[in-house]
Amino acid sequence: MDNILNTKSDIELMEPDRQFHFINLCKKLVLERKAELGRNLTYCVVTFGCQMNAHDSEKLKGILEEIGYEEVEDENADFIIYNTCTVRENANLKLYGHLGHLKNLKAKNPEMIVCLCGCMMQEPQVIENIRKKYRFVDIVFGTHNIYKLAELIFKYKTGGKTIIEVLEKNDAIVEALPQKRKYSFKSGINIMFGCNNFCTYCIVPYVRGREKSRKPEEIIAEAEALARAGVKEIMLLGQNVNSYDGGISFPELLKRVCKVDGIKRIRFMTSHPKDLSDELIEVMASEEKVCKHLHLPVQSGSTAILNKMNRRYTKESYLELVNKIKKAMPDISLTTDIIVGFPGETEEDFEDTLDIVKKVGYDQAYTFIYSKRTGTPAATMENQVPDDVIKERFPKLLKAVNENNHIDRYTGQVKEVLVEEINGQDTSLVSGRTEESLTVHFKGEADLIGQFVNVRLDECKGFYFMGTRV
Ligand code: 5AD
Ligand code: SF4
Repeated sequence: MDNILNTKSDIELMEPDRQFHFINLCKKLVLERKAELGRNLTYCVVTFGCQMNAHDSEKLKGILEEIGYEEVEDENADFIIYNTCTVRENANLKLYGHLGHLKNLKAKNPEMIVCLCGCMMQEPQVIENIRKKYRFVDIVFGTHNIYKLAELIFKYKTGGKTIIEVLEKNDAIVEALPQKRKYSFKSGINIMFGCNNFCTYCIVPYVRGREKSRKPEEIIAEAEALARAGVKEIMLLGQNVNSYDGGISFPELLKRVCKVDGIKRIRFMTSHPKDLSDELIEVMASEEKVCKHLHLPVQSGSTAILNKMNRRYTKESYLELVNKIKKAMPDISLTTDIIVGFPGETEEDFEDTLDIVKKVGYDQAYTFIYSKRTGTPAATMENQVPDDVIKERFPKLLKAVNENNHIDRYTGQVKEVLVEEINGQDTSLVSGRTEESLTVHFKGEADLIGQFVNVRLDECKGFYFMGTRV
């Protein structure tokens, strides 16, 4: 294999050219292997966690396709990647469940390469566990070097030994590599990476590192390229987009993205309430392309708990912010994340959470049971809430979310829906989303996919609508 090993000049290539070089080398290896086996080589990417991970997976898929692998849904593939999440403990348990099953599949397919990446791999105890108990894993990398997939595959295929490359930090931002998008008409764009907030329950700052923002020119260039490729809706992604600092502020960036021809809708995720500026509210209200939907995680309605969470706002200041937003955009749809059972949460604190849910009236809330993440300050706090108390509170919260969402205020309205797919359950229907991110199902054919269609929202079914094309 020495003849195709990289020469000194190859190593000196700058990114992303260096990775294109490894993509080409891997292409040759894959072609050769396919010829030897007389069949195609397949891959499967399994994604856990948030939108950032989903977008990272599109990049992994782009590289694998370029190399010559063919996508399958089945985990019994020749190249399987788990892109992991570690935000809550059950995310970790899920991965170990998959790996247990995979060991048998790999024993039957000697061609199979098992690769793990993402947030969970940034935890040293996870790596230790994999080294000890999951020795059939072939390639491991973390959150800071996903762009290096081709290089790591090449190293593995030419060296044959397990490759573990997890970096603690990496200041480089390497984009402009191939991507395979789930939808041809909508796409995420990373605008920043990492988080500096250190909410006391959250592991993200430890596994994703400190904030780094991409340059506005690069973001705009990516948006323009996507628009040329037919993308109509983009989602600007970051753990806390409001602290974007690429030389210009986030609202300024948003205004510039609005100028990109062909892009009709712009979303962003996620916003920390402490950093949400008046300027952002103004830009959201005045720019037609910016969707009138805001995901504004509250986490708790109790000022005492918010303080312990290091959220840096109070119940009152959050409610003031919401009022300001609603005043500027009366039709806005608000969604949130809430944690139940943070250490020290009393009945009174929980009542405050129910109260804030009532006062805001979220269209959707993602509710989580507090999960102890080793290494975070909250994990060693006193007064961890017993399971039976949490089990009592959780359904009460769900009930409050359901009873106080005003989602049926949209019933009877005509909304522009971006059609995403044929409905999984009833193939005479198509499904899409409104600007508010509400899901709507209505009679339609596959040719509507990727189109904006006016739909009357006839009937509210909890968190989605049945509609009719008008
Ligand atoms: N336990 C429960 N939920 C958590 N989240 C983050 N860390 C934890 C944890 N340790 C939730 C927060 C965050 C969302 C992405 O996940 O609500 O907004
Ligand atoms: Fe975690 Fe808080 Fe950062 Fe969000 S803002 S990623 S909850 S530390």
